[in-house]
Amino acid sequence: MGATPWFWNRLARLYERQQISDVVAYEAKLDKTREYFTPQSEVLELACGTGTTAIAHAPFVKHIRAVDFSKKMIAIAQGKARDAGVENVDFEIASIDDISSADGRYDAVLAMSILHLLDDRRAVIGKVFDLLKPGGVFVSSTVCISNPSRLLRVLLPVGSALGLMPTLNFMGKDQLIGDLRTAGFEIEHIWQPNERAAVFVVARKPG
Ligand SMILES: C[S@@+](CC[C@H](N)C(=O)[O-])C[C@H]1O[C@@H](n2cnc3c(N)ncnc32)[C@H](O)[C@@H]1O
Repeated sequence: MGATPWFWNRLARLYERQQISDVVAYEAKLDKTREYFTPQSEVLELACGTGTTAIAHAPFVKHIRAVDFSKKMIAIAQGKARDAGVENVDFEIASIDDISSADGRYDAVLAMSILHLLDDRRAVIGKVFDLLKPGGVFVSSTVCISNPSRLLRVLLPVGSALGLMPTLNFMGKDQLIGDLRTAGFEIEHIWQPNERAAVFVVARKPG
């Protein structure tokens, strides 16, 4: 089972205090994502954490619905949005499992640092496909580890059983891209700043 809201609630304050590890790469991902936005864009962000990315994108789109199942993460995000005077982002406590395509269709769906943490990423990728309008884009950034060290293989299950770390699914970049293509996406852009960095992908639902 993947990490629970309880795990992320405990981590929320620390997560917010943590520095972005590679600011240049983070900014480059923001810039690339904005190439796909218009002032009319309706955006959904899955697993938004403390809201940094949604707040940064807010001036470039019409509206962002940003969801996370951790109420502590959402509380921090809401406070930051209030402080920044951002009014076109709605932060919502919700699990990805609870979101349905009946809720609406989006021009863009964002999933930053989450696909590798999910129990069933293929189901979520399929759901994102349904949530997008034809021609819409799915922007993700995902830790891809296909060949974990023996230490990691041993430490991770123990750490996640003790509630000290989330469950991390091991997958290679090719597997991730394959899953996106299998769901029907066309890959527009792949970028991995270095071989240990997360893989940033922009995938489009055919129009
Ligand atoms: C590694 S953090 C990433 C946060 C943010 N996207 C970022 O890039 O900083 C993972 C986030 O996913 C959330 N999360 C994990 N599983 C989730 C699920 N099934 N539904 C909603 N949120 C989830 C956690 O609460 C946490 O805030």
